[in-house]
Amino acid sequence: MKKLFIAGNWKSNKTIAETKAWASEFCPKVADLASEKERATVVVCAPFTSLSTLKEVVQNSVYPVALAGQNISKFGEGAYTGEISARMLHEVCGWVVIGHSERRKYYGETDEDLAKKTELAKKEGLNVIYCVPDDQTVVPKGADVVAYEPVWAIGTGKTDSPENANAVVASIKSKTGATVVLYGGSVNAENVASFMKQTSIDGVLPGGASMVADTFAKILRASIESTR
Ligand code: PGA
Repeated sequence: MKKLFIAGNWKSNKTIAETKAWASEFCPKVADLASEKERATVVVCAPFTSLSTLKEVVQNSVYPVALAGQNISKFGEGAYTGEISARMLHEVCGWVVIGHSERRKYYGETDEDLAKKTELAKKEGLNVIYCVPDDQTVVPKGADVVAYEPVWAIGTGKTDSPENANAVVASIKSKTGATVVLYGGSVNAENVASFMKQTSIDGVLPGGASMVADTFAKILRASIESTR
C-alpha cells in the first residue's frame, strides 16, 4: 500500500494555550487510525515557541505525531540575534521546513541561503522538508522530503489540478532524485483525496487547514481511506 506523508504548517500562528488545545483535540481524534501509523507519517510544523509544549502533549498520542520547526538560521550558534540554530532546534524536534515561499518572499531567502540551511540542518541530524514553487527550482542535496507549492495556490483557496500537480511532482522526482514529494497549496479535507490518489504524489502540506484540529484529523483520515 502507498506510504503517505502529511505535514501541517501552522505558519506564524498559535499561542502556547492554543497549541495545547489543538493537540488535546487532535490526538484522540486520530487514535483509531493507529494501525496505519507506519504507512502515514504525520508532522506538525509549529512555531518555535510552541514546539516544547506540543512535544509534551503529543508524546502520549496513540497516533505518533512528529514535529518540525519552520526555519533555522543560515549560521551556526553565535552572535546572530533573533536566530535559532539547527542544533538548538534539533533539541526539540526532528524536522525542519526550509525554503517555504513565504521565507523566500518576505525574508529574501535565496537558493544559496537555503542550500546553506539544508547543509547545517543535515549536519545536526535534522530531517528536511524542502519547499519549491515549481520543478525548475534547485533542490539542495540532503532534502529528505520535497514539497511542490505553487505560490498562487498558497492561502488562496485555489489548488493546482491534481493531474498537473502529479506531473510537476513526477518531474521534480526525475530531475532531483527525490523520493518523497508532496503537494501544498490550499489542501483541505475535501480535496486531499484527489491529490493522495495521484501516482507520484506522496503526501500533502496543508497550511490553513492544519490549524483546525478537527480538519487536520479529517485530512489524515481521508488520506488513509482514499489510498487503501
Ligand atoms: P495553505 O498553505 O494550505 O494555507 O494554502 C500551504 C503552505 O503554505 O504550506
